[in-house]
Amino acid sequence: MGHLTNKLWAVVPAAGFGARMRSEIPKQYLSVLGKPVLVHTLERLASHPDLEGIVLALAEDDPYWPKEREQVDVAIPVTTVTGGAERCDSVMHALTALAGQASDNDWVMVHDAARPCVRNSDLRMLTETLRDHPIGGLLAVPVRDTMKRADYLGNVQETVDRAGLWHALTPQMFRIGVLRRALRGALDDGNQVTDEASAVEAAGLQPLLVPGHTDNFKITQPEDLALAAFYLQCQAAGQGRAALSGMDDGG
Ligand code: CTP
Ligand code: MG
Repeated sequence: MGHLTNKLWAVVPAAGFGARMRSEIPKQYLSVLGKPVLVHTLERLASHPDLEGIVLALAEDDPYWPKEREQVDVAIPVTTVTGGAERCDSVMHALTALAGQASDNDWVMVHDAARPCVRNSDLRMLTETLRDHPIGGLLAVPVRDTMKRADYLGNVQETVDRAGLWHALTPQMFRIGVLRRALRGALDDGNQVTDEASAVEAAGLQPLLVPGHTDNFKITQPEDLALAAFYLQCQAAGQGRAALSGMDDGG
């Protein structure tokens, strides 16, 4: 395992309400295989051997975290900040909190609370691939279906060439200084940024796409909980098999 020359931090935006999930409880606190989604996510991230600490952005007066934090089994510090109106505001608050302890050249991985199934091996692939990169990049998967552009009535306007099209996943990993300046610029300009990379792109820089896997999907709708449970079980079974055969596939 190579080590990063700069420190590595994680930011986990978890201040959303999960409207599309249509549940009483925000989706990051729904249980999958006996543990809240957020706890799975934090434990996955914390398994990266180079991670220094995690900053978690929570909704104001989040009543769930105080109970959950006791059952989170991680060896690194998890600190919390209050999130903001949009995901990018939540990330910005976390970066501001990190500024005290992290240097501008350190790395930050921003990872959605709602993506508990990211593979350990994909986390390692991301950090290994980007270790000498000046800016950063993100896990992504190539689009596999034929893509259509529709008008507002749902009629097909055109078929979009899928060559070169990717789904942007998380973690999105950037030099902290680059990301803070890019997000600040996007927020000041009133740009709607739905991921870190788009803020960095708007600043004129080119993030690198690092191929990941589709099991790292974002829990969004009710039926996604069963899919997350399925992937987590498959990954645990895969790790069990690897351990028996003395191999490390990292899950
Ligand atoms: N998030 C956040 N702060 C916000 C909005 C979202 O920290 N103001 C977080 C969510 O908690 C989630 C991640 O950003 O972990 C990705 O956002 P999304 O999947 O859109 O979650 P929600 O906004 O909660 O869901 P929805 O859009 O269905 O309401
Ligand atoms: Mg949202």
